Amino acid sequence: MMMRRRSLWSLVSLLCIMVCATPAAICQTGPQAESVSDPGSYPVEANTIGINYGQVADNLPTPQEAVLLIQSMKIGRVKLFDSDPAVMSALANTGLQVISALPNDGISAVASSSTTAEQWVQDNVLAYYPATDITTIHVGNELWSQPGFQPLWDQLMPCILNIHASLTYHNLSQAIKVSTAVAFNALAASYPPSAGVFSEEIAVPYVQPLLQFLSETHSYFYINAYPYFAWAGDPAQIPLEYALFELDSSSSSSSSSTASTTSVTAAGVVLDGHLKYYNMLDAQLDAVNAAMEQLGYGDVRVAISETGWPTAGDPGQLGCNIPNAANYNRRLVTKMLSTSSSVLGTPSRPGIFIPTFIFALFNEDLKPGPGTERHWGLLYPNGTNVYSIDMTGQMGSFTFNSTSSSKAPNLTPASRNNPLNDLDPPPPPASSIFNQFPGFDISCGSSTMSSRSFKTTTTFTTVRAAFNLLLQQPANIPLTAARLLEFFFPLLLLPLTITAFLFLSIHLDSLQ
Ligand SMILES: *[C@@H]1O[C@H](CO)[C@@H](O)[C@H](O)[C@H]1NC(C)=O
Ligand SMILES: *[C@@H]1O[C@H](CO)[C@@H](O)[C@H](O)[C@H]1NC(C)=O
Ligand SMILES: *[C@@H]1O[C@H](CO)[C@@H](O)[C@H](O)[C@H]1NC(C)=O
Repeated sequence: MMMRRRSLWSLVSLLCIMVCATPAAICQTGPQAESVSDPGSYPVEANTIGINYGQVADNLPTPQEAVLLIQSMKIGRVKLFDSDPAVMSALANTGLQVISALPNDGISAVASSSTTAEQWVQDNVLAYYPATDITTIHVGNELWSQPGFQPLWDQLMPCILNIHASLTYHNLSQAIKVSTAVAFNALAASYPPSAGVFSEEIAVPYVQPLLQFLSETHSYFYINAYPYFAWAGDPAQIPLEYALFELDSSSSSSSSSTASTTSVTAAGVVLDGHLKYYNMLDAQLDAVNAAMEQLGYGDVRVAISETGWPTAGDPGQLGCNIPNAANYNRRLVTKMLSTSSSVLGTPSRPGIFIPTFIFALFNEDLKPGPGTERHWGLLYPNGTNVYSIDMTGQMGSFTFNSTSSSKAPNLTPASRNNPLNDLDPPPPPASSIFNQFPGFDISCGSSTMSSRSFKTTTTFTTVRAAFNLLLQQPANIPLTAARLLEFFFPLLLLPLTITAFLFLSIHLDSLQ
């Protein structure tokens, strides 16, 4: 009797171990690809939008007033182009996350001397941190965009490494990342997105060492991405709707089934292999992702250091008007802060949060160049909105009235006397857009993400997002057969185990 109980107990234990261990064992055989975009390697980011706070103007509010405006807009991050003491102090104890900068003209000195680097960190970081929550330091801005900066190219990495070494010495290299902001013209090709590649001149000698550093330190590759410029450069070929997040993802579903190459549907959707692009920003970001992969750094994450849309410009500058700017930035915020993993990220890297900084807080009247340059602000210098925008993304961009003028680009100057209340948002709608997809209500309740245009990802991604919910896994882990097995195997094993147990216990009984 004792023997029999002991054997039964062993049998039960053995079966239990089998059931419990099998999914783990299958998990071990899971895809190596997980390590390529390891979601654990980058710190979790606050789900807030960022703003570029530039001061190339003679009529702006004081830094204290500007910071109050930023807070009242519920912006969570601020990017600076320097480390202006008045601004750094004004940002203290605000909870705002700050990207400060070492400007291009400071690179040489810091690159050539670790003592100078240490002094720079003392004066520009330690003097304000941690009261001012500096999360990132940008060394240089758009260094590769102009031949005039070429003498600095060799000095970028030494400068970054000196700053990083000083931060490491002060035990701040985990809390404060170092990177640089890169202009989109660093890419020699960006269409189709999968063909994205850095200019040969900079790729191996300069971009690759940067990516190596970013990969090791889990720091972002910051790109200045402006669909506006791409569209304005070729408005005859590029639908404005593609630049303004206005394409409807349901309009092209039939034409994609056999797509294995690049094409553009009648509606303007770009098909790139099995991926579909309903807006240009996603395409630009994935071109950067492809270019990084091509250099062997597919693990580095992309962030948007600048994006936006101008509200006015010189006569003849197309598409720069308040309705277009409002549509672009509202939809941008809603997409970037979506709580839906099928909206977050890009087609090639779905579900991944992308830190995004809109350009810019104010219209800056002293910026040189064409008229558009002085009209990127969300605010006039007097602090009033150029157009209303909900920087939390809670409102949902399509609760704002879509403006018909966006389809017919205005010749500028756009009227600055437009009654702005035309753009004021009505209250958020009670119903959820996810009613369209009753089985896939994966919004987290608070978001009224309401754009069909934002359903830019493929059906596969949507299904995957649903499975990821089942598996409680981050959406960027590939759904493989192994993962499916991992989920269903215990369910299959359980009846088998019970049957075997019953059979054996009867069998053992008969042996007595
Ligand atoms: C270094 O910083 C980390 C947090 O980033 C902290 O936990 C640790 O205690 C610090 N060590 C020293 C020696 O200050
Ligand atoms: C702020 O400036 C804008 C543009 O110059 C103007 O239209 C608006 O009336 C001003 N608002 C206030 C409150 O002065
Ligand atoms: C928004 O659009 C709806 C329907 O097109 C219209 O009835 C409403 O008056 C508009 N609201 C504003 C503020 O323009």
